[in-house]
Amino acid sequence: MLLTAADYHDLTSYDRYKMSGHGLDWLNQPNTFKTYQGLTKIELEEDTKSYQGLLSELFSLNRPPVSKEIRFQDLSSMLKLSHCLTRKEKSGPGYFYFRNVASAGALYPFETYLATFNVHGLEQGLYHHSVADQSIAQLKKGDCRGALAPAVDFHCKDQPAVVFFFTSMFFRSSWKYRDRAFRYHLLDTGHLCENLALALRSEKLKFEISYDFDDSAINELLAIDPNKEACLAIVGVFSDEVSTNLESSFTPPPSIDLKKFSLCAPEEKRYPAINEIHSITSMKREGQKRDFIRLENFVSVNLGEPVGLAPFRDTPELINYNQALLQRRSRRNFIRKPISSNIFSWLVGLFQKGNTSCHENISWRNFLSTGVLISDVEGIAPGFYLIEPHNGSLRLVLSGLLTEEMAHICLDQIWLSNCSCHFLFLADLPTLEAQYGPRSYRYAMLETGRLGQLLYLAAESIGFGCCGIGAFYDSEAREFLNLRSSVRLLYLVGLGPLTKAFV
Ligand SMILES: Cc1cc2nc3c(=O)[nH]c(=O)nc-3n(C[C@H](O)[C@H](O)[C@H](O)COP(=O)(O)O)c2cc1C
Repeated sequence: MLLTAADYHDLTSYDRYKMSGHGLDWLNQPNTFKTYQGLTKIELEEDTKSYQGLLSELFSLNRPPVSKEIRFQDLSSMLKLSHCLTRKEKSGPGYFYFRNVASAGALYPFETYLATFNVHGLEQGLYHHSVADQSIAQLKKGDCRGALAPAVDFHCKDQPAVVFFFTSMFFRSSWKYRDRAFRYHLLDTGHLCENLALALRSEKLKFEISYDFDDSAINELLAIDPNKEACLAIVGVFSDEVSTNLESSFTPPPSIDLKKFSLCAPEEKRYPAINEIHSITSMKREGQKRDFIRLENFVSVNLGEPVGLAPFRDTPELINYNQALLQRRSRRNFIRKPISSNIFSWLVGLFQKGNTSCHENISWRNFLSTGVLISDVEGIAPGFYLIEPHNGSLRLVLSGLLTEEMAHICLDQIWLSNCSCHFLFLADLPTLEAQYGPRSYRYAMLETGRLGQLLYLAAESIGFGCCGIGAFYDSEAREFLNLRSSVRLLYLVGLGPLTKAFV
């Protein structure tokens, strides 16, 4: 039986000498699209005036959030920007659809639900977003504040106009990754969550992300089967503007068992470690916000003196946020070529500003340490550096060209050795659990996923490639990076120029 999140992470570690290959059960392949058959669909509206600025401008201080009326058209654009299909490719007898969100193994375990309270042109209710045809289906009718308010505690004191819920359907990823899949449920959901956060920034809306809520009450509200699907993140969008079309009674649709739609394959195999880790991390987060983590506590060697990066001169972005979002792909045709110090400073600067919402109740800087393996950046000697959370300066851990060895550690994905840099996400899980309780595991992984998606979009904006890596031999990574025994690698993102530019 698992006792801690660190136990789960260790149980699901990869070991080069203990990998038991397993075939995929193609007859039981999960459906990656959820459809509520029998419910009426409402098509989302076309976006006519989307934000045309750059990704980096979304973080500019002169774009403060405002409290404004949310129309159905605005809601439509939030949903599409957060999650849409971007391309289709022939695959067997059918098609494979790429999306604007990265997902481990392209299994897309996440689903989006929304409770609307104050959206002009849309009846109050609980809805499910169908990414396949960009529509929403009403699951329940009326104002669900009565059920929602005791289950999630937003710091923002304005009224929520709409609340988004991101769930994960366990079997979609465990079909391939078995017990390790809960890592990907969290990372993938973080990727999706960042897409929504950026969309809300582009609309200048006030929003707050919550990873802390009453799991059972929320899963019940969403009418999902908690053994198969669970909510992992909630995003409230706030507005004091009162719209028309308000209704009061909260009623389920007649005679449809909504929970049965949490099934995504004919015969779902259960992976008990996933239900266990979900349950262990169900307790609400404890403890108050502390100071940012201390880098010294992450590695077993002395850190170099902080090296500040020169502020970047010009933005290297070649395409705007919207284009980057639609073009985003995992790219692996990296080429060994130096990147300029200007580009590197820009990347680290953006990364430093990442993961915000209107309430700083969550800051990745309390949960994570980030590092970077640099192989080819002008003016910076190759090596492994930790990044100071408060100012982005670099602290040397290990010198040398390390990306090739890291590529071996990442299940011999050799193309990773050609990246200019590998961004690394680390957490001291036992310390986090001691400070904040087991739910901190979700915080660390979800926030990591958010930063991963931001890196993907940043890379795409400058014509670089990027690929998230969840597959690595965990202990080898810890030893190679000189991490302390309590510190775990959570995720790696490779990034750099490509053999063939795509913008
Ligand atoms: C959490 C996570 C882990 C991933 N791990 C790997 C990996 O180990 N190796 C790899 O080649 N791609 C990895 N990917 C990239 C996915 O394979 C990719 O997102 C998916 O195939 C969809 O393709 P796209 O990103 O081009 O849309 C990962 C992505 C995520 C979000």
